[in-house]
Amino acid sequence: MRLGVNIDHVATLRNARGEKHPDPYSAALSALKYGADSITIHLREDRRHINDIDLKKITKNKKIPTNLEMAANEEMLKIAIKSKPNFVCIVPEKRQEITTEGGLNLKKNFKKIKRIIQKLNNSKIRTSLFIDPNIEDIKFSKKIGTHCVELHTGKLSFKVKNKINYFNELKKIKKCSELANKFNIEVHAGHGMDYKTAKILKKVKFIKEFNIGHFIIGESVLFGMNKVIKNFKKIIR
Ligand code: PXP
Repeated sequence: MRLGVNIDHVATLRNARGEKHPDPYSAALSALKYGADSITIHLREDRRHINDIDLKKITKNKKIPTNLEMAANEEMLKIAIKSKPNFVCIVPEKRQEITTEGGLNLKKNFKKIKRIIQKLNNSKIRTSLFIDPNIEDIKFSKKIGTHCVELHTGKLSFKVKNKINYFNELKKIKKCSELANKFNIEVHAGHGMDYKTAKILKKVKFIKEFNIGHFIIGESVLFGMNKVIKNFKKIIR
């Protein structure tokens, strides 16, 4: 099981001052040194955290296995093909949202997303779709031809944090993982995760990768990135 560390919020902290510190590029190198398997960055339409210069710097260093999260549009497709990250995860994007609120609407955007996934696949970039854990979207994902899906764990995480029964949500994640695996689609999971949810989700067969951001960066401020990444690696081992 691999750990992808999302460093968007290192950029959030930097941007709060409008200067250059802390530098997401340095954070990427540190995260890898401490045991992260890949680095995730989300280049948003409004560039509210990671910007084009960060993306260029990070993707230029081919020793950084980079997962670019991006919206399904022409601008982002061009940027991805030019900067050639190792992986791309297509995510829905709404300008006003604080964070990615839900999974992609594959039914509504089927043609557009299929075309983008095919172009990325042709560019030898590993592709992923960020979806809610429902069976219909796994079936659409197969038709679209993505290599991977990332299951949105936001609902599960919310329930775990608020001590609400999460049994049904976990069941959905398990069922979707099984079907995706049957279809030869690699399964990833992410959003809102912390130590507790990592402990729960690591038991789900077929999940191969976690992508975790806000909690890792927040905990790193208090305890140091080295310690936090090592803790996660221990949990998911
Ligand atoms: N995976 C995807 C597709 C995301 O959009 C995000 C948030 O940017 C994450 C994982 C990480 O979520 P969090 O910051 O809540 O750990």
